[in-house]
Amino acid sequence: MTAHRALLVALLAACGTDTGSPTPPRSAFASLRYDNAAPPPDVSNRYGDDPAAAKLGQTLFFDARLSGQLLDPDNGELAGSLGTRGMPGLVSCSSCHVPKTGFVDTRSPGQQISLAAQWTARKAPMLLESAFVSLFNWDGERDSMWRQTIGVMEGNREFNSGRLFISEQMFHIYRNDYEAIFGAMPPLDDTTRFPAIAPENTGCVIAMATVEQYICHGVPGDAAEYDGMAPDDQTAVTRVMVNAAKAIAAYQRQLRCGDSRFDKWIDGDDAALDASELRGAALFIGKAHCTDCHSGPNLTDYQFHNVGLAPKHVAQAFVDQGDDGAETGLAGLAADPLNVQSEFSDGDDGRLPAAVPASMAGAFRTPSLRCDATHPSFMHTAQLRTLDEVVAFHNSGGDPAGPYPGQSELEPLALTDDEQVDLTAFLAALDGPGPDAALLSAPQ
Ligand code: HEC
Ligand code: HEC
Repeated sequence: MTAHRALLVALLAACGTDTGSPTPPRSAFASLRYDNAAPPPDVSNRYGDDPAAAKLGQTLFFDARLSGQLLDPDNGELAGSLGTRGMPGLVSCSSCHVPKTGFVDTRSPGQQISLAAQWTARKAPMLLESAFVSLFNWDGERDSMWRQTIGVMEGNREFNSGRLFISEQMFHIYRNDYEAIFGAMPPLDDTTRFPAIAPENTGCVIAMATVEQYICHGVPGDAAEYDGMAPDDQTAVTRVMVNAAKAIAAYQRQLRCGDSRFDKWIDGDDAALDASELRGAALFIGKAHCTDCHSGPNLTDYQFHNVGLAPKHVAQAFVDQGDDGAETGLAGLAADPLNVQSEFSDGDDGRLPAAVPASMAGAFRTPSLRCDATHPSFMHTAQLRTLDEVVAFHNSGGDPAGPYPGQSELEPLALTDDEQVDLTAFLAALDGPGPDAALLSAPQ
């Protein structure tokens, strides 16, 4: 039991309310109050709070011209796919983080995992409040917001692009805006130093029309893409891509959920929650032990936990068999040439874990529950479709041990059906107004 939980339990016991009614005093919820203050600066990104960088980043977030070919044959076959297999230039960040639906993927077929160049292995998380994250993705595989962005752009499931192509596009399309923020660009139009690369040749390329087989360029350090390029020019290319990613991060840092009805209730507005939501709030910090992990203003401890989710078919019969989560995700951070300790980072606040604890097998990052209730699916591969199912899942203590890696930390809660309804109602009371409308489309 954490000290935090011990305190809450002691408080509840003092009020004689461990059964969920009557409601604990407002002060018992103070640590969950939404924090409207600006997020702490990201020391790895000195442009993180630069308005010009954020504006360029907002433009880039909606620009599909940085992406390569669509690879998966489901493209063009399924409603919601972005185009026909083989077509380049159709994927943007907003393809999977749809701004008007809280930056989750309500576009891909099935609304579970995402289909861009190929199917992703996991569900696209919402981006609201991500300025408070320091180890990104469900498994902590990326140690900064800009590093996460690079992973997407060079990933052959998402953008299927590469850093040479991205840098050349930045040069041809955004040179003025870029130079006003980051200084002079390398002469990326000098093809004797920087070979010109076409959109259909970046990332992975379809080898044969009838076979799912790809030839991959654009992989960091890949010989074919960097053939003959001087090492300093390769570094210059990487730096342009890093700066583009830092601009996108500056935009994303502004995406917030905002005060919910729950926060208004904490502030003293009795009418802000109905009786069922109020009972749910009491259960959340009491009998249901949700704050063991969903703690603090964003209702997450930002830690990685195993909740024993069994592999399940989602979307196109995809099964997340053998995804061992943070065990693998965290293990790669120290050796990443683009981590916060690298020459491309503007600072290091010690966020890299010293060692990966054994308990990380099958562990995924606790998601924020702010602005979460309206999402079309839940959990890291969107195994669950409704909040009722999520609450029932936590109530059951997770799936029984199966082929899934690791050991579930959840224990059965013995909540009644009514209590589960109350808890679900409470989760919906955590919705907020979301970001300013001006942040939901490309600036203009
Ligand atoms: C094909 C769909 C897709 C596209 C396109 C896409 N993302 Fe994502 N995004 C995902 C998925 C899936 C994850 C979770 C990855 C994981 O955990 O393995 C993710 C994770 C993230 C995260 C981590 C959030 C967190 O809480 O850890 C950020 C930030 C993010 N994406 C930003 C971006 C940006 C910026 C772009 C454009 C450069 C982008 N994404 C394009 C699907 C997509
Ligand atoms: C041991 C830590 C832990 C406890 C206790 C816990 N959760 Fe979770 N919760 C998680 C983790 C980790 C995930 C993501 C798991 C995954 O995808 O593999 C999650 C996922 C969720 C989600 C889905 C969010 C999304 O967008 O996908 C909701 C909703 C949720 N929890 C609510 C609750 C409620 C309500 C309680 C109390 C009954 C609770 N949790 C207790 C760790 C915990």
